[in-house]
Amino acid sequence: MMDGLKLGVAGVGTVGSGLLRLLAARKEELAARAGRPIEVVAVSARSRQKNRDADISPFRFVQDPIALATDPAINVFVELIGGEGGAAKRAVEAALASGKHVVTANKALLAHHGPSLAALAEKNRVALNFEAAVAGGIPVVKVIRESLQGNAISRVYGILNGTCNYILTLMEKEGRSFAEILKEAQAQGYAEADPTFDIGGFDTAHKLALLTSLAFGTRTSFESVYVEGIESITPADIEAAGDLGYRIKLLGVALRTESGIEQRVHPTMVPKHTAIAEVDGVSNCVAVDGDFVGDVMLIGLGAGSGPTASAVTSDLIDIARGHILPPFGTNAKALKPYKRAQMRAHEGGYYIRLSVYDRTGAFAAIAGRMADQGISIESIVQRRPGAELPGFNRREESPAFVVLITHQTTEAAIRKALAAIERDGHVDQKPQMIRIEKL
Ligand code: HSE
Repeated sequence: MMDGLKLGVAGVGTVGSGLLRLLAARKEELAARAGRPIEVVAVSARSRQKNRDADISPFRFVQDPIALATDPAINVFVELIGGEGGAAKRAVEAALASGKHVVTANKALLAHHGPSLAALAEKNRVALNFEAAVAGGIPVVKVIRESLQGNAISRVYGILNGTCNYILTLMEKEGRSFAEILKEAQAQGYAEADPTFDIGGFDTAHKLALLTSLAFGTRTSFESVYVEGIESITPADIEAAGDLGYRIKLLGVALRTESGIEQRVHPTMVPKHTAIAEVDGVSNCVAVDGDFVGDVMLIGLGAGSGPTASAVTSDLIDIARGHILPPFGTNAKALKPYKRAQMRAHEGGYYIRLSVYDRTGAFAAIAGRMADQGISIESIVQRRPGAELPGFNRREESPAFVVLITHQTTEAAIRKALAAIERDGHVDQKPQMIRIEKL
């Protein structure tokens, strides 16, 4: 057997602990599958003593991750520190520059610095593998980078954040508010103490930026992702969506259009009968539309110790087998500049919920504003007499929910129509607008 992989593992949190446990439990099988032993030589962590699910005492402890990245005793640096810059970035750069292969789960780092890190890896003829960075245990990087290479991909999309999917699933099942479920999820440790990255859509946007680059052969462009989180979704929206045959999911979507690539993250209405609508709880899914293969969908766990350790291990086995590919599937120099399609040009159907004063002419005015923008309405329902809402006693001033579904239109037209409806003074709240994804 050839020389083994000698790993330096930086960061021993959830992912790192899972990896150490997996490597210990599967030592012989992995060596047989990879053709060489895979051995942890040293670890780096913020604290040596911390209680964790894996025992780090058998390994040499190196406090400084950058020193570990260039340690002569290792040939693979596993970066599980996280964060778009700081120690993670310096350590990955140092490892690549000194000819070490790198495996990372760090979506933020790659979404922001993917092209330059890929170029550095290729220059030094080493791997920069990141299967665990996108949808955790779902092997989607490998699928796009290898299995679907024969295809022109027109769209890649998915549910890429388990926390959001868990919250939306519970909101639907239990009819409770976003704030209430988030608080409970935090208390139970499912959601981070600072959940902004998850619920604000940024974690999804990082993963989407990587999928876009893999699918379209373009340079990563995180700053071009249009991002909306799930904070504004109410039980009323979920109920109305359900009645209309839809479910609300936070999707990341990258779509090739005539004017460029749309990258967008937002709450999305998906028809209930579709596979993606059935992806519940903390599960993730990724779908790819290819010209020859058709539609491919992968479903699984996007986070957690086991799924991410599984993904990191597959990256290690590739390196052990000498299977080294350009990080984004296309050589870094050949990655095309990202051409952004403007969000106002986005085309699709829309769900609109308006809290409308229940008075003569309100409906007609709303329909008129839609018609002014050439928007055709597929359905319109007044859902609830406003007298049930607190604070409104006079029937004629009570708001009612009016829910509209539009036919295909543009984002620019919808925004203009909603601005005019607000100006007309028939609504007592900012209109809710949720995009419908064509599936
Ligand atoms: N926090 C993410 C999630 C996993 O909830 O899916 C790591 O990206």
